[in-house]
Amino acid sequence: MIDAVKEILIDEETIRKTVNDLAKRINEDYKGKNLVLLIILKGSSVFASDLARKLNMDVTLEFMQVSSYGSGSVSSGEIKILKDAQIDLNGRDVLIAEDIIDSGNTLNALVKLLQKRGANVEICTLLSKPSRREVQVDVKYTGIEIPDEFVVGYGLDYAEKFRQLPYIGILKREVYTN
Ligand code: IMP
Ligand code: MG
Repeated sequence: MIDAVKEILIDEETIRKTVNDLAKRINEDYKGKNLVLLIILKGSSVFASDLARKLNMDVTLEFMQVSSYGSGSVSSGEIKILKDAQIDLNGRDVLIAEDIIDSGNTLNALVKLLQKRGANVEICTLLSKPSRREVQVDVKYTGIEIPDEFVVGYGLDYAEKFRQLPYIGILKREVYTN
């Protein structure tokens, strides 16, 4: 374990099992379909690449990068598109792969945007912090619900660091209060 991490919240084995369980459900629900797995950069990249390799229907990988307006760690209801999908999503079955849902603002805005484009959208998130929710978001697939702690690893960052950790750990408070 690295020094900045206080405690391992979810170990590699638990992550692997969680991803497998999510993939199993998605494989059943989208059997015979042509799925667009929409990977939200950067945080979801690690999770989505593991998830994608467990899917057995026709899958197209697409990427978007969005940032929510608002300062600090508080996200607002609007999003700015930093990188857009490269294909027409009208009429497509789109599954958003997300790393974590916190307030729900980012996903809420993204889902609305994709629906406006005519996509049939569902959400798959590895992590969720239900106690932090500000807007209701319909999430079809949730991996693990976690308490209100700032976590890093397996794609999740603090100031663009720690994404490469193979586990999900709780960041020491002094790392982000200094
Ligand atoms: P929301 O709009 O508040 O739901 O913001 C979700 C986004 O905030 C996620 O996609 C992450 O990028 C970031 N985020 C929220 N909580 C954490 C955390 O504990 N660790 C790292 N990033 C987080
Ligand atoms: Mg994210």
